Amino acid sequence: MNREDFPMMTTEYIYLDNGATTWKPKQVVEKITDYYTKYTANAHRGDYDISLKVDNEYESSRDTVKEFINAKTRQEIIFTSGTTDSINLVADGFFKSNLEPGDEIIITESEHASNVLPWFRLAKTNGVKIKFCPLDDNHYVTLSNIKKVITKDTKVISLAMITNVIGDLRPIKEICEFAHQNNIFVVVDGAQSAPHIKTDVQDLDCDFFAFSGHKMCGPTGIGVLYGKYELLDSIEPKNLGGGMNESFDNVDDVYLKPLPTRLEAGTPNIEGAIGLGAAIEYLSDIGMDNIKEHEHKLRKHLIEKLKEIPHINIINEESDSGVIAFNVDGIFAQDVAVYLNKYNICVRAGNHCAKILKNEVGVKNTVRVSIYFYNTLEEINKLANLLEDKNKILNEML
Ligand code: ALA
Repeated sequence: MNREDFPMMTTEYIYLDNGATTWKPKQVVEKITDYYTKYTANAHRGDYDISLKVDNEYESSRDTVKEFINAKTRQEIIFTSGTTDSINLVADGFFKSNLEPGDEIIITESEHASNVLPWFRLAKTNGVKIKFCPLDDNHYVTLSNIKKVITKDTKVISLAMITNVIGDLRPIKEICEFAHQNNIFVVVDGAQSAPHIKTDVQDLDCDFFAFSGHKMCGPTGIGVLYGKYELLDSIEPKNLGGGMNESFDNVDDVYLKPLPTRLEAGTPNIEGAIGLGAAIEYLSDIGMDNIKEHEHKLRKHLIEKLKEIPHINIINEESDSGVIAFNVDGIFAQDVAVYLNKYNICVRAGNHCAKILKNEVGVKNTVRVSIYFYNTLEEINKLANLLEDKNKILNEML
């Protein structure tokens, strides 16, 4: 779909590493170029035309994000540098002052580092306890398994909506409903879901939702933290500085602005926010349901192809996203990636920053294919054909 929009399509590469980052359509590149060539100025600080134009573009991107995830108000949309920054802001800015020693945070072994390490740090600094929800035979989270690990001390459940290696879509709405009945907060890492499926934070009723621009056709260095207004409003700003203060005179006389500006100190990532807005409009024009459907079709096709190859072990045959993780019997995952690179096929190999997933699936490294709407059946066929002959891989991998 829409391949003609992507300047990178003119290169020789077959790009199947969309879980890491995505290619950018010309609409996004042009929007950013326009900012740098037609109306460069700072945001929220000028009283001249081009500065007001920047304010309009920056703030209308916030409105675009608000609509895209169906937040209740635009104040609930905070621009950050990405999912990692967003989750760290929640952990440090909100939970650090709201959790006590002995309180429990539930995560899983299939989370990405960004949804593990901020919580590990809270365990060190605040004495909170990290508990892992057991996964089912397909390495999925189920509500009944969540119920097994909840105690009266559980205060937070933090889960990816779709994980970056197993690619499973978690039952976040059901988990939120149960969690809230038990006064537990739910934090959602949406890095691998927001680019691929419809997001509705009000329907999910999650407390916080984090995602990145660059995995959804937007620029790097921009992301979003959504939070329910009253929760965001009690976050201690990580950074203090220009733009976010109303006035200051001395140490006892500092007044901060209301949300969302309060949490966006300093000159913001203007090109990032504007580019993200353009990316979201681009994806919305295609339609998130169409994106999902196309990825499912390609996923199904690749799984069928890989199942016919006896030396391929698929890790996540049943998952419901465009993420397919596998290994070639007896060949190190990185060697498979190096072999595919010789044919200009880009995949990721290794532990994919999900470093404790090995405890769950029993293998440390995998080859990961991650599909986006611009991939084609022909590309999938080429990949599968190159994996058919194990001797060819062995002979050409180094
Ligand atoms: N989190 C990104 C990935 O899964 C970088 O590849």
